Amino acid sequence: MGARKEHELTDHQVDAVVIGAGPGGYHAAIRLGQLGKKVLCVDRDEVGGVCLNWGCIPTKALLHVGEIARHIRGAPELGLNPGELRIDRERIAKFKTDVVNANVNGVKTLFKGNNVEFLYGQASFKSPTEIALKTKGGEDRITAKHVVIATGSAPVDVKAWPRDGTTIINSDDAVKLESTPKELLVIGGGVIGLEFATIYTRLGAKVLVIEALPQILTGTDVEVSKALGRILKKQGVEIMLSTTVGKLEKDGKVVKATFKGEGTGGKDETRTFEMVLVAVGRRPVTDGLNLAAAGLSTDDKGFISVDQQMRTKVGNIFAIGDVTGAPLLAHRAMKQGVVAAEVISGSRSAAFDPIAIPNCIYTDPEVATVGLSEEEAKAKGYDVRIGKFPLAASGRARTMNESDGLIKLVGDAKTDVLLGMHIVAPQAESMIGEGVIALEMGATLEDIGLSVHPHPTLTESIMEAAEAAHGKAIHILNPKPKTPAAV
Ligand code: NAI
Repeated sequence: MGARKEHELTDHQVDAVVIGAGPGGYHAAIRLGQLGKKVLCVDRDEVGGVCLNWGCIPTKALLHVGEIARHIRGAPELGLNPGELRIDRERIAKFKTDVVNANVNGVKTLFKGNNVEFLYGQASFKSPTEIALKTKGGEDRITAKHVVIATGSAPVDVKAWPRDGTTIINSDDAVKLESTPKELLVIGGGVIGLEFATIYTRLGAKVLVIEALPQILTGTDVEVSKALGRILKKQGVEIMLSTTVGKLEKDGKVVKATFKGEGTGGKDETRTFEMVLVAVGRRPVTDGLNLAAAGLSTDDKGFISVDQQMRTKVGNIFAIGDVTGAPLLAHRAMKQGVVAAEVISGSRSAAFDPIAIPNCIYTDPEVATVGLSEEEAKAKGYDVRIGKFPLAASGRARTMNESDGLIKLVGDAKTDVLLGMHIVAPQAESMIGEGVIALEMGATLEDIGLSVHPHPTLTESIMEAAEAAHGKAIHILNPKPKTPAAV
């Protein structure tokens, strides 16, 4: 992390202050700067927030390393013999830190280039337009016409499993990669749990994931979640569903965990782990903000409510990103930040009203989804038309020696309009862009099937899944469609 900036000013009069320099906050600040506003961005920690420092960027750097490790282990199958894989944990951690620093410095450069002033400090409302900023050197006062709250979220800590940062950890600790445990217990089969299960398995840990609910990635299309579960198991990750962890007992350098449920045949089971990662969700961060002085409050879960212009109930105060509720995703926060900046700058049309927000889970292979799952579509009363294409039938996937996965499209049988796209595949996070555009443009399954996709690529499988929905995919034996295929 860079050295803290010394500053002389104690009084700041600005058009807008952005509290929080994570992906939401820095987007809002840069857009405000682009629009000629006098803008100050403050954060008690490093520029970039969770995304750049502890979340998206460092975890993806580690996942990339893990993916290469997998390729090296699989190389002999392709006629390459790189020898035994030796893992240099410190060098990997340095690679991750270098990536983080490059991104953080990039945002700082963008701040400078867009006349965004940045200050370190803890912000606290005095009134809707006045903020006290506790800095290292004392207290600054900010008077702002507009305020954007972009304070994000933090891991939920569970009292019964007290975090010590080395044996019982959360995702902020896990990303530091200070050691690789021989046995790792991951509590929570959500996005964070599965991404770290992937990282640590690749680095040689034996990983058990325990999920309280009957599926991993709850809320994801059930077939997709099951497909990922099967792939992870093949990779050596043990997964127990409908199982809960009771006691965690520290015993010297290890932790004894007791758990019970479907995964243990209903009996109490106790195992010893070198490390336990608690990944059971994230909570909004508003501590120290003194929201009441601004006339604001949070809902019963701690989130701040906003409208489509990102306005809170106090006219000059906006809130964006994780602090406004689910889904807790950086790309949602980024777009919301831009909307808030444009509304503050006088736009009457700016609004955050996407048809769907994509979700990417960086397991190996990745899972990417956008729109409705089959279950959600049915629950909403749609008569669904499903199109599926297994990666095993993709020529390109075979050339990559990566044929585990599938593409699943959910359509409305009445109108043929696409409702959801779900992908388990390498590069799924890039492929899903096609689903986002298709949903925003109101594309039908037929539109997707008729669009000429390049060959040989993984995206062809999206086209074939759309064709499969009409019983006319070429590279699979088509299931009989409910409605006869049109010629
Ligand atoms: P999550 O809500 O996705 O998953 C937590 C899981 O823990 C749930 O499945 C829940 O049933 C389970 N759980 C809760 N209590 C439990 C217990 N006592 N025993 C066993 N299981 C238990 O939360 P997660 O994974 O911590 O992620 C938080 C947020 O961060 C998510 O909303 C996600 O969208 C976001 N995120 C997004 C990423 C991405 O886009 N790639 C990466 C990391 C986080």
